[in-house]
Amino acid sequence: MTAEAAPVIDLPLPPEPGILETFRRGRLMRSDPLACTMRMYESEGPVVGQRMGLFRSVNLFGPDAVKHVLLNREGIFSNKQAWDLIIGKIFTNGLMLRDGEDHRYQRSIMQGAFKRPALEEYLERMNPQIAARLSHWKAADSFLVYPAFKRLTLDLACSVFLGIELGPEAERVNRAFEDTVAASMAVLRIRVPGLAWTRGLEGREYMVEFLRRLIPAKRKDAGSDMFSQLCRAENEEGDKFSDQEVIDHMIFLMMAAHDTTTSTLTSMMYELALHPQWQDRIREESRALGKDQIDFKDVESPGAIHLVMNETLRRYPPLSTMPRMARREFQYGGYRIPAGTMVVVFPIHMHHMSEWWTRPFSFDPERFTDTRAEHKRHSHSFVPFGGGAHMCIGFRFAEIQIRAILHQIVQRFRWSVREGYTMPVQQSPISKPKDGLPVRLEALA
Ligand code: HEM
Repeated sequence: MTAEAAPVIDLPLPPEPGILETFRRGRLMRSDPLACTMRMYESEGPVVGQRMGLFRSVNLFGPDAVKHVLLNREGIFSNKQAWDLIIGKIFTNGLMLRDGEDHRYQRSIMQGAFKRPALEEYLERMNPQIAARLSHWKAADSFLVYPAFKRLTLDLACSVFLGIELGPEAERVNRAFEDTVAASMAVLRIRVPGLAWTRGLEGREYMVEFLRRLIPAKRKDAGSDMFSQLCRAENEEGDKFSDQEVIDHMIFLMMAAHDTTTSTLTSMMYELALHPQWQDRIREESRALGKDQIDFKDVESPGAIHLVMNETLRRYPPLSTMPRMARREFQYGGYRIPAGTMVVVFPIHMHHMSEWWTRPFSFDPERFTDTRAEHKRHSHSFVPFGGGAHMCIGFRFAEIQIRAILHQIVQRFRWSVREGYTMPVQQSPISKPKDGLPVRLEALA
């Protein structure tokens, strides 16, 4: 006897919630996607349809759903249509906002700027900049970690990404760049003076002109910054980026790298303050290297810092949510889901599913050791960098930068949080502490 396949039915949608309820839910989801998705999954299961006016979305939970959406084997899901709605006006034509053949072609050229020789050069550029910025950090009873990292990663963006010296021009570029990032979260999207959205559009225009002016020189010189690397990058067929492509990719890359790295570093500092035994372990490993600044080969050995970084990315994935647009009707979990539905998967929910992680709300870096390897229980249960064709191209760069920075910090400082402190986290759009993360910073001899 053969079991009859369960019938496929249309995805049920809840009644239209009305404008106030829509805003309330949107705000809740932005401020605490983990609590919202845990509740949703427990009460409604792994496939949850939603509607807001004409807009239809479906939230899919669990590693099989994450795999199905990210691998996108049947070409159902569009990155461009989803991300364009959210950041397309400011980060136009960034790599993540492209689909299919166009995306593959652009990515094949960009790979050149992320190969080992390029990464080694970036590390050489960052080390002295990190040392210079950390020399401004002073012992304090209440040192705000998040703004300090934002400043540091902006300095690094100027030097490593753009290859320009810090100074008045770099300050102007930083401001323009910060305006673009702030605008990508703006709710009111009309071009009226004074609005964050308008400042973001102006920031983009400034950056476009600034980058365009520098391109001829960057194409000629053999600079080791990312801008020069992109100007020179070519794929196996010898294709290169046009000027406009270099500009679009640079603006997107700076955004993709900046807040994600700042967020990860801040969350690591928090967990290391709560778990001084891990802070000491990382300090001991850094001291054992016997040098102020790391080399490329130091990044290749795993060590405590790698375990802590993974565990932090599990607990606080900077990108808690990944959207796609269904280009055509598809079936999932027994439901028929129509074309034009926004399909959303949630790394933050995936990373806290008790079916896949042991005591998922505890900080336990050892779960990433070879012996326990909890992240290998499913190919898509640990996805801080996404997966499939759009997997983060900068994940090695991110680890290099984070390790280079922490290596210098642990040798100069010890830090802690006050008794009973819990970091108030705003998880969306990019995870960050609402209070800047105040720590007691102590200088080491
Ligand atoms: C801890 C730091 C970082 C995290 C957690 C992170 C996370 C992610 C995730 C989840 C995606 C996939 C989004 C999606 O599929 O919708 C992504 C894509 C991307 N990231 Fe990162 N990222 C980080 C750092 C960086 C850095 C340092 C760079 C560049 C230097 C970078 C450049 C990119 C680019 C270009 C894409 C688009 C790739 C594509 O569409 O082919 N990221 N990142």
